[in-house]
Amino acid sequence: MKAHCTKLLPVLVIALGIPLTGTADLRPLSRAMLGNLQATNSIGESLAVGDYGAVAAAAEDLRNRARKIRGWKVDDLGFNPAGKAEFDAYLKLQEEISDKIMRSARREDSRSIVDGLGELMTKACLSCHKNFRDRQGMLKSSTLFMTSFVSSWREMNRGLLLNDYSLVARGARSLGSMGRVMSWDPIIESSFGLSKAANREKFRKYLHKLIGHADKVEEAATRGESQLIQQSITAMWNDGCIACHGEFR
Ligand code: HEC
Ligand code: HEC
Repeated sequence: MKAHCTKLLPVLVIALGIPLTGTADLRPLSRAMLGNLQATNSIGESLAVGDYGAVAAAAEDLRNRARKIRGWKVDDLGFNPAGKAEFDAYLKLQEEISDKIMRSARREDSRSIVDGLGELMTKACLSCHKNFRDRQGMLKSSTLFMTSFVSSWREMNRGLLLNDYSLVARGARSLGSMGRVMSWDPIIESSFGLSKAANREKFRKYLHKLIGHADKVEEAATRGESQLIQQSITAMWNDGCIACHGEFR
């Protein structure tokens, strides 16, 4: 239990310390970025299994997304329009480097794919984050909570498929702890911008469902009951993730 608290502490500090940025709707950017992350992971994972077609497809996805974001108005995202040229320059780099990775994949040149991946991360992703995300304090705590939900779910699923029940239990436990942190009134208000108490109460109800099912997954994992694990994961998605998204996302 103690180990959990120390692990959650930085998240708590971040969640309480960072208010939502003005009135800007960052959601389209958040979604585009989760897509960026998924495509970047996919390049590495596909390369590892020698699937060059999938590497090329992921690189193409990164290229097209950068192109699309370049058409967006930066002031809608809460940035100073004076920074538009710099913002676009990083996107242009993402476009060019992804294009290079795509061509390397067609030649099945794994070394040049690896080089391209390193270049993409440092010159496009990290450089833009340093200048736009970090400097302007744009790390949305709601995104942090949600990405940690996604990784816990992946851990549970992987454990289930590998027959590794301790991995399942660990994933369920961290999802439950994160859900409990998220249930605190000040966190719901500051991270999800819900100012009405009645809305926070509804939001919390979905979290309690999510936590209840996660606890069931953990119990079932300690007994090694794979069918019950799967049923509880399904219920967690339906009564937790999907239900709350339907109302609040
Ligand atoms: C042109 C600027 C720019 C480029 C290029 C860029 N990002 Fe981002 N990224 C941002 C900004 C601004 C945010 C903060 C928005 C938010 O948190 O919702 C962000 C947020 C993220 C997040 C959300 C994580 C979190 O905890 O908030 C991920 C993941 C991410 N970027 C991945 C990537 C990857 C991978 C690449 C490169 C393939 C990339 N980004 C390229 C500007 C950029
Ligand atoms: C109690 C409510 C609630 C629950 C439960 C919940 N979410 Fe979310 N989720 C949200 C809200 C609100 C947003 C939009 C946040 C924002 O953009 O500020 C969101 C956004 C997301 C996003 C970011 C992409 C997008 O479309 O904005 C992902 C990914 C996500 N949730 C995954 C999950 C998963 C997986 C679960 C279940 C394991 C889950 N969520 C459970 C409320 C919830």
